[in-house]
Amino acid sequence: YMIDKGNHRHFMEKEIHEQSEVVSHTLSHYIDFIENKVRKPAEEIDFSSVSSLAISACGTAYLAGLVGKYWFERLARLPVEIDVASEFRYREMPLSPTSAALFISQSGETADTLASLRYCKDAGLKIGAIVNAPESTIAREADVVFPTLAGPEIGVASTKAFTCQLAVLASLAIQAGHARGTLSAEDEGALVRNLAETPRLIANVLNTIQPSIELLARELSKCRDVLYLGRGTSYPLALEGALKLKEISYIHAEGYAAGELKHGPIALIDENMPVIVIAPFDRFFEKTVSNMQEVAARGGRIIFITDERGAAATKLETMATIVLPAVDEIIAPVLYALPIQLIAYHTAVFMGTDVDQPRNLAKSVTVE
Ligand code: AGP
Repeated sequence: YMIDKGNHRHFMEKEIHEQSEVVSHTLSHYIDFIENKVRKPAEEIDFSSVSSLAISACGTAYLAGLVGKYWFERLARLPVEIDVASEFRYREMPLSPTSAALFISQSGETADTLASLRYCKDAGLKIGAIVNAPESTIAREADVVFPTLAGPEIGVASTKAFTCQLAVLASLAIQAGHARGTLSAEDEGALVRNLAETPRLIANVLNTIQPSIELLARELSKCRDVLYLGRGTSYPLALEGALKLKEISYIHAEGYAAGELKHGPIALIDENMPVIVIAPFDRFFEKTVSNMQEVAARGGRIIFITDERGAAATKLETMATIVLPAVDEIIAPVLYALPIQLIAYHTAVFMGTDVDQPRNLAKSVTVE
């Protein structure tokens, strides 16, 4: 890896565009696309015998873990306890030595994540770490290291590390489902074939959505607040969308589970606060669309991120509709991360902020 921006304006832009390649690289480490199954790693967590999985991380890495929770629970029937590391380390929760723990970190040096790892190690749990920096402290102290092969990430806002973390988590959830007998060989084959499509789809999406997102970003750069909504694995993506926008454009943004709208945030809806709705045409689609109608009925402006089927199935007027290819649930979070990253990036560029080194933020938070 050459650490320069190439012909990109910012490292963040370069890193967004590297995702097809680095996700492909990462997936190939975990999945044998010739045999159509997950590889048997040299070192592993024996998912067949663990009673539950504890996951902890900070920021974007935590949000990747939150997507992972949905996958481990649904595909492997493995209960997952997840929390941000700054809470996890002090909660004094009961931990069983029959559980395993998974820590996620790009830098491998985040102080709270490391402290959570040590807490679980003291409790006798088997420790796995998904890290991008292979020589880091978290990598050294874990029993099993699951590398993300994203290459160095320079932009403070995490992009390619996030999608590579998702690629590893999807692979591990399939591996766990295999080990626990909750996935048939046929299901596993279908999931793996779907994952194999991811790099091509990433490239395809990055090539097509850019112009519409630039137009949208010009509008968003005039806003003071933005709300992101999603259900299922689109809920952590809503949180990630809000985090990304806050970090680099300094626009106030919040992510909410779409079903929570009527429990509070609906009070904020007016024409001044755009609502970004993340809704692939999945089993949650109808429910999210009904939340979207509640927004529209109150004069809210909607930015709808969906797929071809979702766009065809809805007739609501939107401020913008970003249409992605229709894909399996296992790929959707990786693909929907792309418009979210580009929205934050282009909005920040319009606002003229320091995209790669936003104020007050450090790439790696090594103090508490
Ligand atoms: C992401 O855009 C952030 N800058 C931040 O939330 C980051 O993900 C978090 O600090 C965790 O860092 P790590 O992955 O290096 O542990």
